[in-house]
Amino acid sequence: MTAVNDLVRPDRYPRSAAYDPAWLLDLDMGPNPLWLLEDLARDLDPRPGARVLDLGSGMGATSVFLAREYGVRVVAADWWVGAERAAAVFAAAGVGDRVEAVHAEAHALPFADESFDAIVSIDAFEYFGTADGYLPYLLRFLRPGGQLAVATPAMTREVREMGAIPPHVKAVVGWEAIAWHTPAWCGSSGRSPNSSRSPPRGSRRTAGGTGCCGRAPARRRTRRSGRRTSGSSTCSPRTRARTSASHC
Ligand SMILES: C[S@@+](CC[C@H](N)C(=O)[O-])C[C@H]1O[C@@H](n2cnc3c(N)ncnc32)[C@H](O)[C@@H]1O
Repeated sequence: MTAVNDLVRPDRYPRSAAYDPAWLLDLDMGPNPLWLLEDLARDLDPRPGARVLDLGSGMGATSVFLAREYGVRVVAADWWVGAERAAAVFAAAGVGDRVEAVHAEAHALPFADESFDAIVSIDAFEYFGTADGYLPYLLRFLRPGGQLAVATPAMTREVREMGAIPPHVKAVVGWEAIAWHTPAWCGSSGRSPNSSRSPPRGSRRTAGGTGCCGRAPARRRTRRSGRRTSGSSTCSPRTRARTSASHC
C-alpha cells in the first residue's frame, strides 16, 4: 500500500496526484507516465481545443490526462495496443468524445501533413524514433510553430563508448537499452535535450532520462520543391531542464 501511495506526490505533481494510482497501475507500461507528461507539459502550450498526437500512447493514461487537464483533442496512436482496447479506456475515463484511438505504426502514420498543434511521446520514442530520418518524417505532421515533446530513457554515456550495455541496466530492460542515448546525443541533429534524470527501472548511475520539448519552425521547407524557406528541418530548442522524473 505504501508503494502505491508513493505514486501520489501533490507537491511535485499536483495534477497527477488527482489520479487513482490503482487506475494508473492497471494501465502501466513503464515508469509513471503522468509525472513525465506533467513535467513536459510545463514547457508545452496545450491550449484548450488544440489537436495533440500522443504517439506511442500505450494503454492511454497520458491521453486521458491531456484531454482532462488541458482540454485538448487527442489522437492516441499506438502499435502494440489495439484501438478498441484503448477506446474502452477513454470511454471509461469519460473522455471518449475528445480522444480518438488509432492503431498505427510510427513510420506509417495515417495523418495529413500539419494535422497537429503538438506531438507528445512518453517513454515510447526509443522504440521507433532513433534513426536520423525519423524527426524530419514526424515533423511533417506538426503545423508550423507546433510543438514536439518527447520523454525517453537515457544513458549518461553512450553504449558504444562503454562497449556494452551496463549489466545492471541490461538485467532490467535487456537489449532494449541499445536504443537509449545520452542527453547530448538527443541534442544533436536539432534535438533539444533537457537534463539527465534519476535512474529508471531499478538501474543505477549509467542511466537516467532525457527530454526534448521544441517548436517546429514557423515556416518550413517546401517538401515538393525542397526549397528551404526558413528555420531548420527539426525542432528548435525552446525549453530548459524541468523534470526530475525517472525518464523525461
Ligand atoms: C513502454 S510503452 C509506453 C506507453 C505509454 N506511452 C506510457 O508511457 O504508458 C511503449 C509504447 O510504444 C509503442 N510503440 C513501440 N513501437 C512502436 C511503433 N513502431 N509504432 C507505434 N508505437 C510503437 C508501443 O505500442 C507501446 O505502447
